[in-house]
Amino acid sequence: MVYGVILGGGTGSRMGNVDKPKQFLHIGKKPILIHTIEKMIINERFEKVIVTCPDQWMAYTKDMIKKYLPDADVDIIVGGSTRNGTILNSILHVEKEYGLDDETVVVTHDAVRPFVTQRIIDENIDAAVNGIACDTVVPAADTIVESVNGSIISCIPNRAHYYQGQTPQSFKAKMFKELYESMSEEDKAILTDACKVFVVNGKDVTLVKGETFNIKVTYQYDLRLAETLLGGEE
Ligand code: CTP
Repeated sequence: MVYGVILGGGTGSRMGNVDKPKQFLHIGKKPILIHTIEKMIINERFEKVIVTCPDQWMAYTKDMIKKYLPDADVDIIVGGSTRNGTILNSILHVEKEYGLDDETVVVTHDAVRPFVTQRIIDENIDAAVNGIACDTVVPAADTIVESVNGSIISCIPNRAHYYQGQTPQSFKAKMFKELYESMSEEDKAILTDACKVFVVNGKDVTLVKGETFNIKVTYQYDLRLAETLLGGEE
């Protein structure tokens, strides 16, 4: 079974002074989260799409989905205190409601990446079903400059070997759960994304080609960019 997991458990602190988490802000006529749910539920390979949200926004999220997508058959659950905690909560939900086996796959996608394509989702599902975790990426457009102390460059790596991570990130749910739960709190704290759980544990993670327009809405500027991209999509 393949489950879509929409990661909407964050509060969007980098968006600055807004009255609600960024996934609830509008682009065009609908909230960002609704655009993202539409992209996921259209894919018939998902057994179920699970939407996560911050604890205190549960009623708001339910009402919003009822208003914009009254026929959508999605599960709405509370996220965790970290992004990976949100993924774990989703996997625990699948385990409780539907059962987990070695073949259960989760396609985890940021609530704030509304421009994901069906090609990207399908290639994620293919990789994960075939037993290999995957990360959606685009080649690094700018040269990457490393500075460990923040003032002097320590390294300029070969750009050809560098990519920017997007989402979805997809994998066998049970494997993520076992690897993540086996890690110390200290190791968990340095994890910035789900694929790192596999990488630091010596597991292969394959690359799925993303799209430059598969942006993550992080800052105010991204909202304006998203409005423009939406215009092109419609
Ligand atoms: N996310 C989540 N659970 C968390 C933290 C983040 O599901 N505990 C989700 C966010 O809702 C978002 C995605 O992960 O859809 C990408 O993370 P990011 O852009 O960092 O979102 P926020 O944590 O909300 O933003 P910020 O870092 O600016 O506070």
